[in-house]
Amino acid sequence: MPKPLLLDLFCGVGGSAVGYHRAGFEVVGVDHKPQPRYPFEFIQGDALSPPVDLSAFDAIHASPPCQGYSRTRHLPWLKGKEHPLLIPAVRRLLAEFDGPWVIENVEDSPLKGIALRGGMFGLPYRRLRKFESNILLMAFVGVSEPVGTPGRMFGNRLRKQHGETDIVDDQSIPTVYTEFIGKQLIQALC
Ligand SMILES: C[S@@+](CC[C@H](N)C(=O)[O-])C[C@H]1O[C@@H](n2cnc3c(N)ncnc32)[C@H](O)[C@@H]1O
Repeated sequence: MPKPLLLDLFCGVGGSAVGYHRAGFEVVGVDHKPQPRYPFEFIQGDALSPPVDLSAFDAIHASPPCQGYSRTRHLPWLKGKEHPLLIPAVRRLLAEFDGPWVIENVEDSPLKGIALRGGMFGLPYRRLRKFESNILLMAFVGVSEPVGTPGRMFGNRLRKQHGETDIVDDQSIPTVYTEFIGKQLIQALC
């Protein structure tokens, strides 16, 4: 039986993609910048006007840029920088899609839905990410949280020590998050 096909919008280096692949999807990524490390089929283009036929896909994931929503935008050396706030435009795009979709972003973003943290998967970092969807997503309750909130560089080092290599960069998300979400998407498709 062919695997379901997921469109990975704003795909970056492929953190989300690897998790969805582990959950059982074939994945095609779209990003406006070349992504030579992306491990699946990649198409360069604008994710808000994707150069593909959306109806060819069973599910869509979108990770629009988070800098404009992140609390780090208040740091003195980042203040005044302009960052696009693309979540409303992504919601409009996905409203046209018939299948299940997921939008991922940072803690301070306006996404409605579940939040996942490293501690929920026994990982020693926080890296909280929110997920909004048109299906009911389930998260965990009562799982322990590691002490402290490692900063970016330390967090990336920890991720590499815990089995993530090629797909770790400042923006990629832990693969376990989308593997967890991907399994729920596949159930919804069934
Ligand atoms: C948060 S990162 C994605 C991280 C990815 N989900 C992962 O886990 O590896 C956002 C990506 O969006 C891309 N991007 C920003 N604006 C875009 C646009 N209009 N169309 C396509 N890609 C865009 C950036 O180049 C960047 O790679």
